[in-house]
Amino acid sequence: MQGFVLGFNMNISVNNIKETNCRCDVLILPITEGDSDLYKNLGASIRKLIKKIFSKEFSGKQNEVLIIPAPSDIRAGRILLIGLGKKAEASAERIRQAGGKAAAYLRDMGMKNAALSTAVISSLKLSPADFAEGALLGLYTFKKYQTKNNDKKLRSLIVLSHSRELKKNIDRIKAITSAVYFSKDLINTPSNDMTPAHLAKAALSLKNKRISVKVFGRRDAERLGMNVYLSVTKGSHEQPKFIVLEYKGAKSKPLALIGKSITFDSGGISLKPSDGMEKMKYDMAGGAAVLGVLKAASELKLPVNLVGILPATENLPGGSATKPGDIAKAITGKTVEIINTDAEGRLILADAIGYAIKHFKPKAIIDIATLTGACSVALGNEAIAMMGNDRKLLDDIKKSAKNTYERVWEMPLFDEYKEYIKSDIADIKNTGGKNGSLVTAAYFLYEFAEKTPWVHLDIAGTAWVEKDKPYIPKGASGIGVRLIIDYLRSALR
Ligand code: BES
Ligand code: MN
Ligand code: ZN
Repeated sequence: MQGFVLGFNMNISVNNIKETNCRCDVLILPITEGDSDLYKNLGASIRKLIKKIFSKEFSGKQNEVLIIPAPSDIRAGRILLIGLGKKAEASAERIRQAGGKAAAYLRDMGMKNAALSTAVISSLKLSPADFAEGALLGLYTFKKYQTKNNDKKLRSLIVLSHSRELKKNIDRIKAITSAVYFSKDLINTPSNDMTPAHLAKAALSLKNKRISVKVFGRRDAERLGMNVYLSVTKGSHEQPKFIVLEYKGAKSKPLALIGKSITFDSGGISLKPSDGMEKMKYDMAGGAAVLGVLKAASELKLPVNLVGILPATENLPGGSATKPGDIAKAITGKTVEIINTDAEGRLILADAIGYAIKHFKPKAIIDIATLTGACSVALGNEAIAMMGNDRKLLDDIKKSAKNTYERVWEMPLFDEYKEYIKSDIADIKNTGGKNGSLVTAAYFLYEFAEKTPWVHLDIAGTAWVEKDKPYIPKGASGIGVRLIIDYLRSALR
């Protein structure tokens, strides 16, 4: 199936050319704050030029940029100085940010090809691959729906290095970034096109030697007893699709990745206010992240077993929609009283968790979901809210959050929250009221995960970016892909 992966705008290569010999529009020179003499080896004229500029217009502050004509004794047409901030505070994240800022700036300036000097980044014991990652991520655009396309494009970046290891690391970053692009494209696509059926097609496009895909329809879900999931589908004319992928890279028990896949959340009969409702197309960002992870895992041939589950449906009001007070029975046999039809994410996830445990006996479950508005109330747009029942799993994900800067913040699952979601007439109800609604949503899922090691990632505050960040252009952030891939690479070996 073609059409889902459009590829990068920019080509990245690693080449052992001397900075002064590289024929390109622009040579990128990263500079730490206040250090005006980092490039003395490039000759007297560059050295003088940088010294001069340091007296006034540039000092190397984080993400500061300045483009200047190159002296005639080097082959590049221009030089871009990009600030890395204070040497003592250097980090992979800051290098990524510099990469994102530099690439987007050069594109906007109409530059076509650039080369990156790697000496300074390497001297900080950091990797130029992080710069490349920031550059690729920062150049993401979503232009499918704009009929006039006369965009500026930075076409190539040559990373100046002889290192074979760097080349390997950049190849890995390309695979991961391509998966982030894939995920973002799905999320940015409006719900009239990104229907559950279309999401299923996107999943099917990943089919290969190691990935198998099954798509269950309404009848199948009925047969499987997933009536809590089905309760969410009832108001919509779009056919629900319960999508199951398997990636086999090892023989061990699988890790189940479950992504909330509401292709549009109107709230259902508990209708949301119309202000900002257009953004509820991103309520399938969890599902898109899971697809991205499977895509990258298979490209990187990771030695792990994964099951990806996307319970996909719209959540709409309608003549046959579920009404507040209705009760449905989950695949596990538990009955759920649906107090608020807008608390639909936990309903579809409950059956997905139940299905995963029943059919795959996974060694662990990670669910990722735009689950609660309370997530952004608590953490703003800066961190994923994380809750779970397994200390090792939680701690491993925290490490990956540090590595990728897809930050997580752990919230508690106190026993007392059980009371909040007790129903008078069913086993459990789907809301626990306003207070603690971030944690009671997770507690609801905990009641379905039970003894299986499980972690819940609430990405409601981070899956959508309102204002450009250094390497995350506004729109879908694609969060979760880099985090979970890092977890798979570091923890599961
Ligand atoms: N999809 C929303 C959560 C959400 C809100 C995600 C804003 C991203 C941005 C979820 O289905 C929802 O509506 N949650 C309700 C639950 C409430 C009714 C208990 C919420 O958090 O308001
Ligand atoms: Mn909702
Ligand atoms: Zn929702």
